[in-house]
Amino acid sequence: MIRRARGVLGRSVPRTLRARLIAGLLALLLLTCAGVGLATAQALRHFLVDRLDQQLADTGGRYAASLEHPGSRAAGDAARGDTRAQAPGTFGARLLNGTVTAARVVDGDADDPEVAEGTVAADTDDRVVLTAADRRALAALPPGGPARSVELSDLAGYRLRATAGRDGDVLVTGLPLSPVEDAVHRLVMIELVVFAVALVATGVAGALWVRVSLRPLDRVVGAAERVSGLPLASGEVAVPVRVPDDDLATEVGRVGAALNRMLGHVEDALARRQSVEERLRTFAADASHELRNPVAAVRGHAELALRYPGPVPDEVRHSLGRIEAEAQRMGAIVEDLLLLARLDAGRPLAAEEVDLTRLALDCTADARAAGPGHRWQLELPEEPVLVTGDADRLRQVVGNLLANARVHTPEGTRVTLALSAAAGDDSRIRLSVTDTGPGIEPALAERIFERFVRGDPARARTTGSTGLGLAIVRAVTAAHHGTVDLSTRPGRTSFTVRIPVHPGSAPPGA
Ligand SMILES: Nc1ncnc2c1ncn2[C@@H]1O[C@H](COP(=O)(O)OP(=O)(O)O)[C@@H](O)[C@H]1O
Ligand SMILES: [Mg+2]
Repeated sequence: MIRRARGVLGRSVPRTLRARLIAGLLALLLLTCAGVGLATAQALRHFLVDRLDQQLADTGGRYAASLEHPGSRAAGDAARGDTRAQAPGTFGARLLNGTVTAARVVDGDADDPEVAEGTVAADTDDRVVLTAADRRALAALPPGGPARSVELSDLAGYRLRATAGRDGDVLVTGLPLSPVEDAVHRLVMIELVVFAVALVATGVAGALWVRVSLRPLDRVVGAAERVSGLPLASGEVAVPVRVPDDDLATEVGRVGAALNRMLGHVEDALARRQSVEERLRTFAADASHELRNPVAAVRGHAELALRYPGPVPDEVRHSLGRIEAEAQRMGAIVEDLLLLARLDAGRPLAAEEVDLTRLALDCTADARAAGPGHRWQLELPEEPVLVTGDADRLRQVVGNLLANARVHTPEGTRVTLALSAAAGDDSRIRLSVTDTGPGIEPALAERIFERFVRGDPARARTTGSTGLGLAIVRAVTAAHHGTVDLSTRPGRTSFTVRIPVHPGSAPPGA
């Protein structure tokens, strides 16, 4: 319920600053118009009613008195009033001891020439039918008191005033309120038209004005959007975008200046990060390069010592064997690190035609020899699958995936290497290594392509695990503008490599 109400409200309240400003402006103007309209209508009514009261005061009870004292009228027509000089609609009543004895109203033809001349026409005033409520209202008027608005049932609204007559009676004179209502109504109508025109004009002019005023903000938004579209995550980064409005005297200018300052900082920070990364990469490449020779020397000397023909104690032989094995492992790690450092530095790979079908056959044959306990399967398309790339590095990718399927699964596991050519919309070849092993835990699977991430470091010595195998798979695939994905569950683990047939023509990361 609440959510729906909020939804309805959310839809009716404009979202953009532009729309909100205009809506706010119009709402304020509407309020102002309503206030002005009410105030002027009220003031006009007051003014006109005051004038009526003045008129009533001036007239006194003359007409009402004439109802009883006919003056120049013909005898026997005592009930008729003297309508001379009385405005049409003038009401007169005479009360004696709180009882109405006569009540008449001057007819609309009061300006008849006959009347003006002083002869009373038979139709110049009319009897008014009074209900009990009307009589009570008339009786309630205080003689000599202020005029009051009274609604008489036979007539419309009237302004009535009572005066004390000469012979103990009360004379009530009244003037109709309808001219006042007409004037107020007319004023309201005129105001409605004027306000409507003002609202429309303000709406149009306000929309234009707001649009013009917010134009600098659009430029800030444009600059921010251009920056957000820049590839800032890696590589050499320049942020050439700046906001043109940086006049500190305006709000938008302050935003623009702040944004420009921030962009400057971002540029500095990115440049610093870039240089740190550069140095780190150079360091890793130099370090692994420098380690290559000593490691090779250690291994060579261990081998040499092991071939010593004379008697060597068993402990020494064992140690030498360990030295040789570890030196070999160290050599492999150094080679892997060097390769990663070179790929990081963006060293170009060879771009030769590689027959992946041939490569898959070779690698599977090697894997079968290394792991005869596993069941190895190959799924190859009829046509040879060719890509442009670096044969040695691609061999390393397939070799690492097959080695993992061998080393990290128990004997008897079935491992399938499947290769499929580019087909349909996807202009990439697909190579997958799938095994029926125990699978990889989700926590490990998330970070599996990172460097030195491995399942069981304790078993590192027996499996020769370094945690660099899949990092190399990813780096080499990325260098070929390809991707590698993992899908794993107990009983089925599958690594899928996709690379474009001609990596040179594909955008990076495609
Ligand atoms: N096919 C697989 N089945 C189960 N676990 C695997 C498989 N492939 C890789 N892993 C896990 O991923 C980890 C990282 O693999 P990798 O980067 O090649 O390093 P390494 O093989 O040197 O340990 C391995 O230690 C292993 O725990
Ligand atoms: Mg491995």
